Amino acid sequence: LVYQEQYRPQYHYTPPAKWMNDPNGLVYANGTYHLFYQYYPEDIVWGPMHWGHAVSNDLLHWEHKAIALYPDTLGYIFSGSAVYDEKNTSGLAPPGESPLVAFYTYHDPEGEKSGASDFQTQGIAYSMDGGENWSKYEGNPVLDNEEGIRDFRDPKVFWYEEGEYWIMALVAGDHAQFYRSENLTQWEFMSEFGKESGAHGGVWECPDLFSLEVDGEERWVLIISINPGAPNKGSGTQYFIGDFDGTTFTADHEDIRWLDWGTDNYAGVTYNHAPGGERIFIGWMSNWDYARDTPTEVWRSAMTLPRKLSLEKIKDTVRLLNYPIEELDKIIGKREAESIEIPAGDKIVRESTFLSQAEVIFNTAGRNFSMVLENGEGEKVELVMDGESGMFSLDRSASGQTDFKEGFGAVQQMPVHGLPEGEVEVRVLVDRSSVEVFINKGQYVMTAQLFPNEDYNLLYVNNNASGPLKLEQFSLNPVQRVW
Ligand code: FRU
Repeated sequence: LVYQEQYRPQYHYTPPAKWMNDPNGLVYANGTYHLFYQYYPEDIVWGPMHWGHAVSNDLLHWEHKAIALYPDTLGYIFSGSAVYDEKNTSGLAPPGESPLVAFYTYHDPEGEKSGASDFQTQGIAYSMDGGENWSKYEGNPVLDNEEGIRDFRDPKVFWYEEGEYWIMALVAGDHAQFYRSENLTQWEFMSEFGKESGAHGGVWECPDLFSLEVDGEERWVLIISINPGAPNKGSGTQYFIGDFDGTTFTADHEDIRWLDWGTDNYAGVTYNHAPGGERIFIGWMSNWDYARDTPTEVWRSAMTLPRKLSLEKIKDTVRLLNYPIEELDKIIGKREAESIEIPAGDKIVRESTFLSQAEVIFNTAGRNFSMVLENGEGEKVELVMDGESGMFSLDRSASGQTDFKEGFGAVQQMPVHGLPEGEVEVRVLVDRSSVEVFINKGQYVMTAQLFPNEDYNLLYVNNNASGPLKLEQFSLNPVQRVW
């Protein structure tokens, strides 16, 4: 059977074979969601980058397509985005037709070797047949690296409705830059953001800028990946909430905010033109600290579940929530929900043959409990909610294979002080070699890879409080495979 190798995710996107990193060119057009991705078709480690390609009509079931973009004389094809140029503002299509246009970074390995600093520029390619075949634009690069910025990349282009022009966000080492264009080929610098804001423990990568509503008001969100410098080491994703006036982005806050506290959600960006104006995010479920070392042989790494982004005011602060898209419920075999009361110091145990491909979900007002997934070899991952310290932690130190890279087993921490009082939902999705934890519908999120030597088949919920722990609407549900 295909897609049955050890550790192969059953309901997350993985390439059939070889190395994958960032999601690229997330665009919805004519009923199809496109997922392009950083791809090296020759090996299971990073190499000269291509754009791999897959399509879906529900973001869950994917069809693999031919490689969309190959390196050329200008360089490797690094991360970027894609738009549906409906009005053919670019003139890349014959009159009356609409091209898909992809924006990516050219990384010139020769330039890098020669010690130059302007070896990253921005290029475009277009497709006239809905993404099957791509042509590189003859005038590439469309954006030169005049200032010679070493890390000058990851263009995210979108249509700015209010101003009726295109905007490109890209990163320039320690900040983001914004450009505008009428025709997608000529770009004019507008502004920059971030030299003095946010986390700066590493280089900024993969920006995204978009608006969302909260309480009837429009706010702008800027997503920035950073490597290293994430809260639990290595690479991670921060976000800013603020204003954008068509030229300049300004943040509302000075604190650093993380979209996901786990080690394995990086380089995530959102779909252009998603139906109903939804903001759907996909991240790369790995970490540059050990991405090349994980114990898979045929392919390497997966994407996160597609997640819907929204803003919500919680305890007087507007937060960015990320939570699996509703369509996921279609492949979850919902069991009857139970109401469970666990006495102080006690636990419940569930034995299940499908725990390694499952959803665990409940509501609780408890803040002192832990969940353990374990297998017959005693390997386990522990998720601990500790009301005393206000911390949620994920301990994968004894989860299975961990010694392929030092530090992989370090305990991951997430401060959850901002949780509202009372019942919140705890939702955990396990898929062979990953776990995604969503607390309070995506207010606090942790994504982590796991490599148990055998499938987990035991679930424990421990009550660590001095009083009873109530779990409402508890269920352990199998998730169908999508391959
Ligand atoms: C992020 C990143 C991007 C770059 C790509 C190269 O993971 O480093 O900044 O475009 O990967 O594969």
